Order: sequence, then C-alpha cells, then structure tokens
Amino acid sequence: MLKTKKVGIVGVGSYLPKKVLTNTDLEKMVDTSDEWIITRTGIKQRRIAASNEATSDLAVAAAKKALKKAGVRPKDLELIIVATITPDMQFPSTACLVQKALGAEKAVCFDISAACAGFVYALSTAEKFILSGAYKNALVVGAEKLSAITNWKDRNTCVLFGDGAGACVLAPVKSGGIVSTYLAADGSSSDLLTLPAGGSRLPPSKKTIANKLHFVHMQGNELFKVAVRAMSEAADKALHQVGLSCKDTDIFIPHQANMRILLAVAKKTGLPLGKIYFNIEKYGNMSSASTAVALCEAVESGRIKKGNVVVLDAFGAGLVWGAMVIIW
Ligand code: COA
Repeated sequence: MLKTKKVGIVGVGSYLPKKVLTNTDLEKMVDTSDEWIITRTGIKQRRIAASNEATSDLAVAAAKKALKKAGVRPKDLELIIVATITPDMQFPSTACLVQKALGAEKAVCFDISAACAGFVYALSTAEKFILSGAYKNALVVGAEKLSAITNWKDRNTCVLFGDGAGACVLAPVKSGGIVSTYLAADGSSSDLLTLPAGGSRLPPSKKTIANKLHFVHMQGNELFKVAVRAMSEAADKALHQVGLSCKDTDIFIPHQANMRILLAVAKKTGLPLGKIYFNIEKYGNMSSASTAVALCEAVESGRIKKGNVVVLDAFGAGLVWGAMVIIW
C-alpha cells in the first residue's frame, strides 16, 4: 500500500451533446408545461445525443479533455473505469470501447453499474487500486445516453433525463487528495427504479416491447424521500470519518436529480445554498454523468480552489448512494 500518499484528481473534462431539448419542446411531445417542470424539478433544458452517438462516444470526448488536462498520454493509462447504466451494448464493457478509441492499450478496463451513484463508486474503486500499488493512474468516466432508455410518451419520466459525460484522471498526489469515502446500498428497495427488460430476467420479446419494459420505470415520490435521507447521511458520514462536518465544506457537488431534493438536503445538513454546485437547470438528471460533469464545471469555472474541501454526493437506482471528501 502507498501508505504515505493520497490519490487525487489531476485532470477533468466533460462533453455534452449539442442538441438542446427545452421544456417548451417537451410541451409539444407530452401533456406537461414549462411551469410544472421548473417548479417540480428545477430543470429548464437537457442535452440529447445524436442518433449516431453512443455512450462510449460521449465518454471518449470527455476522457480526451481530462487526459489532456492531466498531461497523461492514453498509452500510459493503466486503468479505465466507466460508470454507466446505458452501455453501448450488454458486452463488451463500454470501458473496453473507450480504451480502443483512445489507444490506451495498456489499461485494464471494466464498467461499474451503480446508476446515479456510479461516478462516486467508480472513483472510490480506482482510488483503492492506485493506493494498493496495482496501478499508477486511472481514468474514471461517468457517461450516459439516458435518452435511449427514456419513454418519450411518459411525462412522469421523460422530462427528467438528459445525456452527457464527465471524466477525470486519478493519480497519487503530494498534497490533498481523496481523504474519505462512504458508500452504501439497499437492494430491498431495488424495485423503485428499474429498467425491467433486456436482461436475463426478461429477455427482449414482442411482449416486453409492447409493455414498454425497455424504458426507465420509476416511483418518483418514494425515491424522493429516500434520496434526501440517504444523501444527507452520506455527506455527514464521509465528513465525520475525517473529523469534518458540513460547515467545513467549501463546495458540495451533488448528483442533480431534482432541485427540490437538493434544497431539502441543504436544509437537513445545514449546508448554505451558496456552497452547493447546481447545474440541473441546464442538463437535467444525467445519472452517473451528473456528478462528473458538475465536478468538471466547478473546476473549470474556478469555483474549486486549491486546498478547498470538496464533497461529492450521489444517490440512485439499486438503491445505492455515497459521498466522497476531497481536499483539492
Ligand atoms: N407534467 C405535468 N404533470 C405531471 C408530470 C409532468 N411532466 N409528471 C407527473 N405529473 C403529474 C402526475 O401525474 C400527478 O398528477 P395527479 O396528482 O393528477 O396524479 C402530479 O403531477 C404529481 O405527481 P407526483 O409524482 O406526485 O409529483 P412529484 O412532486 O413527486 O414530482 C418527480 C415527480 C419525479 C419530479 C419527483 O418525485 C422526483 O424528482 N423524484 C425523485 C427522482 C429521483 O430521485 N430519481 C432517482 C435518483 S436519480
């Protein structure tokens, strides 16, 4: 183990597809209104990938920027982890497709399926591999093409999601770095958010297609309550593990599922709104890519400064949730 060193984020990058789908556009597709969507979710628009763009394409575009920022050549990469619930295919892993596109032939590759908490789960996994001495660097990507699994006739879900990718390069750092992680899961509530068909339980058939089982199914109300509790608990636990609390946080970067969830988490934890990074109005919920893109934007806009206490916090289908404390 690299006992004396910490692992830090040495480069970030993001990619958002060009096409913007506004709430006004959605008003023409389903029985909804700009007013309802903004009031209930905080979302004004979302990005939609082109029909010839798959998740790995979004991931590669974000990864190239992160590698450039980090000054790491693809051929020197030792590990690639892609967090996604919308892989290009069931197999091979999207990470292997990213490896091929980057020319990172030395890297070990795999995907992590932890839905909206995928980026935090993947960061933590990569950190442990580097701390163990197994690999000297890692590329972690949160990438999703949720538009491919969205039922565009279901107003309960189609207004919520968007496509995008965020990436970061991890390596040992001399100061700062990841100081604490808290991860959790509760499979007993797995039915609250699912993509029911297409796997071994319900292989694709005319019936699964007719019943729209290849799209996201969600019990939004139930999830809302658990999300607030879980995200607040995760932030508190990750901070307490290293003797910190929410008041020590300089910037809080949450998964962006619903503005009202984030406001409730702020209230429960005592986090001032000025310390929370919000981008939900621009992109909606991009699952694993939400936290990744938010982190990237916070770095690139100068919101995160050297020495800052940065808290990532995410919650999603599984149920899974987790938080990470990074000294920047
Ligand atoms: N436009 C207009 N009306 C809509 C609508 C839409 N897009 N979607 C739902 N409605 C209607 C419902 O049909 C319902 O009507 P009814 O009272 O006549 O039955 C009403 O609005 C209220 O629906 P409800 O589901 O109670 O709304 P809500 O306030 O809970 O908001 C979510 C719905 C999905 C925005 C909210 O529950 C949420 O964000 N949940 C958590 C999502 C989440 O965390 N996902 C997992 C983590 S990634």
